[in-house]
Amino acid sequence: MFIIKIEQTQYSFEIYQKSLYCKKEVKLNTLITFATRFGCTEKCAKKLEEKLSNDMEIINLKNNTKISLDKYDTVIIGGSIMMGKINSEVKKFYNNNLAQLLQKKIGLFICGALSEQVDKELRDNFPEELINHAVATGYFGYELNFEKMNFALRVLAKKMSDTEKSFSKIIEDNITKFAEVMKR
Ligand SMILES: Cc1cc2nc3c(=O)[nH]c(=O)nc-3n(C[C@H](O)[C@H](O)[C@H](O)COP(=O)(O)O)c2cc1C
Repeated sequence: MFIIKIEQTQYSFEIYQKSLYCKKEVKLNTLITFATRFGCTEKCAKKLEEKLSNDMEIINLKNNTKISLDKYDTVIIGGSIMMGKINSEVKKFYNNNLAQLLQKKIGLFICGALSEQVDKELRDNFPEELINHAVATGYFGYELNFEKMNFALRVLAKKMSDTEKSFSKIIEDNITKFAEVMKR
């Protein structure tokens, strides 16, 4: 008898929560947008999503060209660098939405092999005003996924490392620190 009582209370609480959801438009606070060539930035975006605890949505810019930013307070944009350039989808996204992005809390991160050039690569690939406006800019390391590259890219990638085997150098600690700054 006692057990039934508890179950009923829990059940009615769930109904109450659902009705609240139906009445109010669900407000998502944070959007993580990213583009990736071989999967590294996507992995990092998902790791970041796990570390941020508030309501959020994660969108691959390759599959979504038109994103309405109205419902987000915070937007995080991530991309990878190849031959000094960030993914064209990332560039298109911030160019199309720059005025609105400058009204939001912003985080920017990149993945790339050249850790000593992070500052330059950030500055070369994001508008100065967006970098200055961002509360966090991050470098999340890189991967070389040889299996996902075509022949020409594999040749270039081999020049960047002393191995031909795929490897991951994602810097978990940097993702954690970035998440901490974004949460403030
Ligand atoms: C052909 C090629 C060129 C690259 N050029 C750069 C570069 O200019 N600067 C850099 O920091 N990393 C460079 N990288 C490393 C990539 O940024 C790294 O592999 C990254 O993890 C890729 O992320 P993604 O899988 O999300 O696209 C290059 C990688 C390849 C395969």
